[in-house]
Amino acid sequence: MNMRDVVVVDGVRTAFGRAGEKGYFWLTRADDMVVKVIRELLRRNPEVAPTMVEENIWGATTQEGDQGLTLGRTTALLAGLPDSCSGFSIDRMCAGGLTAVTAAASEIALGACDVAIAGGVEHMSHHPMGATADPNPRFLAERLVSADALSMGKTAENLHDLFPEISKEMADAYALQSQQKAALAYREDKIQQMIVPMTVYTREGWVVADRDQQPRPETTMEGLRDLKTPFRAQGRVTAGNSSGLNDGACGLLLMSEERALKLGMVPKMRLVGYAYAGVRPEIMGYGPVPSTKKLFTRTGLSMEDMGLIELNEAFAVQCLVFMKEFGLTLPDDERLNRLGGAIAFGHPLAASGPRLVMHLMHLFGAHPEVRYGLSALCVGLGQGASAIWENVGGR
Ligand SMILES: CC(C)(COP(=O)(O)OP(=O)(O)OC[C@H]1O[C@@H](n2cnc3c(N)ncnc32)[C@H](O)[C@@H]1OP(=O)(O)O)[C@@H](O)C(=O)NCCC(=O)NCCS
Repeated sequence: MNMRDVVVVDGVRTAFGRAGEKGYFWLTRADDMVVKVIRELLRRNPEVAPTMVEENIWGATTQEGDQGLTLGRTTALLAGLPDSCSGFSIDRMCAGGLTAVTAAASEIALGACDVAIAGGVEHMSHHPMGATADPNPRFLAERLVSADALSMGKTAENLHDLFPEISKEMADAYALQSQQKAALAYREDKIQQMIVPMTVYTREGWVVADRDQQPRPETTMEGLRDLKTPFRAQGRVTAGNSSGLNDGACGLLLMSEERALKLGMVPKMRLVGYAYAGVRPEIMGYGPVPSTKKLFTRTGLSMEDMGLIELNEAFAVQCLVFMKEFGLTLPDDERLNRLGGAIAFGHPLAASGPRLVMHLMHLFGAHPEVRYGLSALCVGLGQGASAIWENVGGR
């Protein structure tokens, strides 16, 4: 069987809300957020009739309640896709959405389907991280992992221990520039076009959720300096240099390049390759380093070939470690997260992978001189996820 080229033709997301009663989505279902994204992808791309969508794949970390019952199938039915559209849900925590995208791409590459929707959703208000999980007692009893491995913030403190040259001040400086880049991208109307406004009922009545709630454009180094370190006394990880707790959904429309061209659509990016890798759970933030190295080995490309990099900002320290390991300029490499990152926008776990790819897609459009871009994330319990994309916009 010959492998076929796979392209992304569009992407869209909901605004990312703050988790909790004051967030946009407290009274909104996670599956309705996914439906909104699917319908908007189809509305924006009238060349794609709903009957053409053959597969609908969604990542979600907690697969119960309004994220249960195999979201890929339930949301296909709820969105009005035809009965013939199959679907499933998938979990790789923070990389659940990217895994949905690479699963869809693999199906398309192998000829199992032509057109797919794939994305990720996380309603961290309704499903606080790990709240209903029941980790096997052997993990701790047999010291398979340390207790730190189950708290993402503590794994970030561990990374600071491992790389003592990365100070809290550097993490704060990184966080500040993420907020500043996001604020600039908002001012330049670069983020709004990626968000589908959603009218939602909240404790304050009906509101239109059309902007992220997490960004803090007023952030200063002084404001960051004195924040509490909730994961360790005298630690270095704070609410200011971490991603937050958020609700959101993001989805992409993928197809074979051949089908896109037949439909007269402009493919924006082609998947070059992807890789996943594991690391010790206690230093989960290190994950994107081995997954990216593995991907470079497999594709024959290197960091020098990457004109743009979208790295999820679970924690500033983990981004700084990645940058250091690949020889990028600290704390701000001009190729990295040009529009800001999860420290500003928020990190609704499985929704973040597709968001990174979507940012890359928009940046590719603005930078035709760039050929390759990387999207990468760290993953709870010690994994990394990486994908390389080729800029084919308007080719
Ligand atoms: C770090 C964390 C515990 C903070 O949670 P929180 O306390 O609810 O966060 P808040 O937004 O209320 O911020 C806490 C304080 O810091 C302040 N703050 C946050 N960001 C700030 C900034 N950029 N500048 C100044 N102050 C800031 C807030 O105003 C708040 O102050 P207050 O206590 O006086 O009200 C939480 O965001 C977290 O767990 N993040 C990591 C998520 C995660 O692990 N994801 C998975 C990754 S693998």
